[in-house]
Amino acid sequence: MDDIISRTAAELERTGRFSELKRFRQHGCHTVYDHCLNVAREALRIADRVGGKLDREALVRGALLHDYFLYDWHEPDPNRPNHAFHHARMAWENARRDYNLGPTEEDIIRRHMFPVVPIPPRTAEGWIVTAADKACALKETLSRNAPNKDTEHQEDNP
Ligand SMILES: [Fe+2]
Ligand SMILES: [Fe+2]
Repeated sequence: MDDIISRTAAELERTGRFSELKRFRQHGCHTVYDHCLNVAREALRIADRVGGKLDREALVRGALLHDYFLYDWHEPDPNRPNHAFHHARMAWENARRDYNLGPTEEDIIRRHMFPVVPIPPRTAEGWIVTAADKACALKETLSRNAPNKDTEHQEDNP
């Protein structure tokens, strides 16, 4: 794993509830934790291709926290708003409660569901994570080693 990702993930685990993401399934056999690490790796790959002046620390931290909503979205809960439309806001609220977020990290987390939620990111880092998230969600959902084939038809939420 990239040093910056492992270092940042360890810091988030030490100082907040980041390790709780290991308890929740995201796509196929992948936990939310796996997914967030995949998105951070993909975001760095895209950043290397794009080049230019990017805040890689904020990119990785925002990518790791973009799905910090801290519940199992597969479990129906009538008291919870629609996951696809509202989990980015919930992740942002949880993340700013637990961590000190910079504006780029906030943009990444809040806007990563564009265009499902039709407010686009304001930062290049936000656009990169939005793209990385879609690519990872697709790869994870189609992953051949996903053990829960019978649950894969469920609506997919990056
Ligand atoms: Fe995601
Ligand atoms: Fe998401």
